[in-house]
Amino acid sequence: MSREVSAFGPGRVNLIGEHTDYNDGLALPFAIGEGVCARATPLPGRRIEAVAADLDEHDSFAIDSHERADGWRAYVRGAVAELQAAGVELTGTRVEITGTVPQGSGLSSSAALEVAVALALMAAADAKPMDRLKLARLCSRVENEWVGAQTGLLDQLGSLFGERDQALRIDFRTLEVSPVPLELGGYRLVTLDSGEQHANAGSGYNERRRECAQACERLGIESLRDATLEQAEGLPDPLDRRVRHVLTSNARVEAAVAALAEHDLEQLGQLLDDEHASLRDDYEVSTQAVEAAVKRLKDTGALGARVVGGGFGGSVLGLLPPDAGPPEDAVEVRPGEGARVLR
Ligand code: GLA
Repeated sequence: MSREVSAFGPGRVNLIGEHTDYNDGLALPFAIGEGVCARATPLPGRRIEAVAADLDEHDSFAIDSHERADGWRAYVRGAVAELQAAGVELTGTRVEITGTVPQGSGLSSSAALEVAVALALMAAADAKPMDRLKLARLCSRVENEWVGAQTGLLDQLGSLFGERDQALRIDFRTLEVSPVPLELGGYRLVTLDSGEQHANAGSGYNERRRECAQACERLGIESLRDATLEQAEGLPDPLDRRVRHVLTSNARVEAAVAALAEHDLEQLGQLLDDEHASLRDDYEVSTQAVEAAVKRLKDTGALGARVVGGGFGGSVLGLLPPDAGPPEDAVEVRPGEGARVLR
């Protein structure tokens, strides 16, 4: 029997390890307090009515239709189709969506949306809870097959596995998720919107992914996790730089885990700066607007600042010492609980 229920999917910030997820690498994300809420109420018949309350837009389609649509509708239609394909028997539902993560801000509004909608629809249909890794993969397929962004599992795992006060060290080769205490004392992590909307589909994201695949093909390896810096040097430009970014980024994740264990936040700040330089120069996903936001954070005394998420716009993450006052439009972020059904 269907019933009324709400679910929350948080956005995520990735402390370090960007563009490593689809290369079987390492990352260190955490779920944030901002996210997407999906409120599901039962409807007669086999239709889904979806309402994006903040945009004042709606969508309506038959559960079994498999018809495509653009924008936020693609995520909802994709979630419904992928849940059905996974054997979840959905029931007629109205889903009202509200959010506090700005779209295109690089804080994973997309995964927050997929995860919140999927959890709400499953709960409304009284379906048995799905294994969280399986759900992360399902939501990632929504992005790959329905939205057209060849993204990895970083955002979905960050949103689904988040824990209060913990970052998550994720090994994308084994899919092992290990909580890492994020104890900042009086230091603060803030995000600053560059003002430039980022979108994974349609940006250089898919091209970067292709370049990594090309590099693997040339090196005769399955994934860049198996590459070495020496091998990278032998590749033509820009493949050499792309591989160098992925390898040094994996190493920075391990260094960040060690810095956190030693409460060495100066070192963490340095690692954020190094990651940004690598994303800007080797992976080439920065823009003028992003550089301006990085500079604004550094000018207010940030120990480190870097573009976060896919890049090509979006937000910048900064680590501020206790005495630094962030720009007025910066937002403090803290590791919070993962996605959940609210009832
Ligand atoms: C986007 C994608 C993720 C990941 C990051 C870069 O957020 O959705 O899968 O690749 O970019 O680290």
